[in-house]
Amino acid sequence: MPLALSGPRRPALAQMLHYAFRPEEAVQRNIVRYGSTHWIKSFAGPVLATASPDHARRIFAADPDTFATFAAVSLSGVLGERSVLVTHGPEHRRQRKLLTPPLHGPRLRAFGEQMRAIALDHVARLRESQTLRAHDLTTEFTLDVILRTVFGVESGSELRAILLGMLEGFSPLAVFAPMLQRPWFPPFRKYLAAREAFYASLDRLIAERRRSGTSRGDVLSLLLEARYDDGAPMDETEIRQQLLTLLIAGHETTAISLAWVLDYVLRRPEVLTRLIDEVRGQTDPDAIAKLPYLGAVIDETMRISPVVTDAPRLTRVPFELEPGLVIPAGTPVIVLIEGIHRDPSIYPDPGRFRPERFLERRPSPTEFLPFGGGHRRCLGAAFSEHEARIFLATLLSRAELETVSPTPSARVRRNVTMGPADGVPLRVRGLR
Ligand code: HEM
Repeated sequence: MPLALSGPRRPALAQMLHYAFRPEEAVQRNIVRYGSTHWIKSFAGPVLATASPDHARRIFAADPDTFATFAAVSLSGVLGERSVLVTHGPEHRRQRKLLTPPLHGPRLRAFGEQMRAIALDHVARLRESQTLRAHDLTTEFTLDVILRTVFGVESGSELRAILLGMLEGFSPLAVFAPMLQRPWFPPFRKYLAAREAFYASLDRLIAERRRSGTSRGDVLSLLLEARYDDGAPMDETEIRQQLLTLLIAGHETTAISLAWVLDYVLRRPEVLTRLIDEVRGQTDPDAIAKLPYLGAVIDETMRISPVVTDAPRLTRVPFELEPGLVIPAGTPVIVLIEGIHRDPSIYPDPGRFRPERFLERRPSPTEFLPFGGGHRRCLGAAFSEHEARIFLATLLSRAELETVSPTPSARVRRNVTMGPADGVPLRVRGLR
């Protein structure tokens, strides 16, 4: 490791557990002691960790062939080796070119009405005085959005039950430890069985689409119609793996983020009042997509409680992080989203929830990076933001909610995400 940088000497296991379970504390401690870019230890050897926006910019702007996927082996055991989260280099670029249009621009706007109809449906099921966990509500909502917009099916379909079984059986251990991705490990065996059921159901959907020959505008239909530059379609193995990836990358993340927003705003009457004033009466998804305070509240939530703590990479060739500082090939590199979002020189009083900061100054892409950056930036960022805005505008303009728990939710790790430990319990005070 280059001598110019240092890092904690504690054993790898201690450092990994600290980072996994208390990322805010681990990251802040390392930044204070060793600087914003430092080495940490892992079972995979030394990892370069950076909370420097300047280093993040160099990493994100580097030639895409500089990096491969970090933990490709574990990820491919779960998602398949053709998943866009696993591939790198030209294959990865080719895939992103096909996966980007269905999740952006006019397609995304067309999903807005469907997202709103689903939000209305979930809000209509709420009852006065009911208590519920925000995370349950947002999980149901985001699952129905994915079913409708990605798979083109209604919430009553067989696919919903299959997806729920698969997501519930997902074990963090099997994600992080490839040696446990074996049929003798019961959670992984269960996951494999659920994944087979998912693929079988998806194959039936694909056959149906091909028979009917009509496009329904959902991501599945769009991918069946899409062609690579050489005119070839995406084959069925790849479609299976990409849809599984969109489901796993896009479902829990958005559900957690929405639960965090409710945890923050319901504890702050001044924020809630301003938010309700802005969203009340707004029914047009395109107008909702432009509401400034709503956007600021979502951004401030993702700044202070990022759902994903870091953007990982693996160097394939020596990489010059700054003049004279070369990181060898084969080194894991992580951009500490968590650390940058709590940097007091970018965000004064960083522990304070203050959405106005996003109205006063727009941070740069490497100062605010809940969706990572560069060639691997989250493919669902715009989709997720649209969905979050529509859900919150619909919910808060129709339901009067209050928090039930006296203390803010603690952050706990769930797979790669950091979610609220208690699921954010709340009560429906009234319905408008
Ligand atoms: C609040 C919600 C979400 C958060 C916080 C989030 C965060 C992230 C992050 C940090 C990355 C890694 C980026 C990097 O390495 O630079 C990522 C990748 C990805 N996300 Fe998301 N995501 C969210 C929602 C979604 C949704 C809704 C979808 C799909 C519908 C999605 C699909 C993906 C995919 C496919 C990748 C892999 C991109 C690649 O490796 O090229 N995400 N996401």
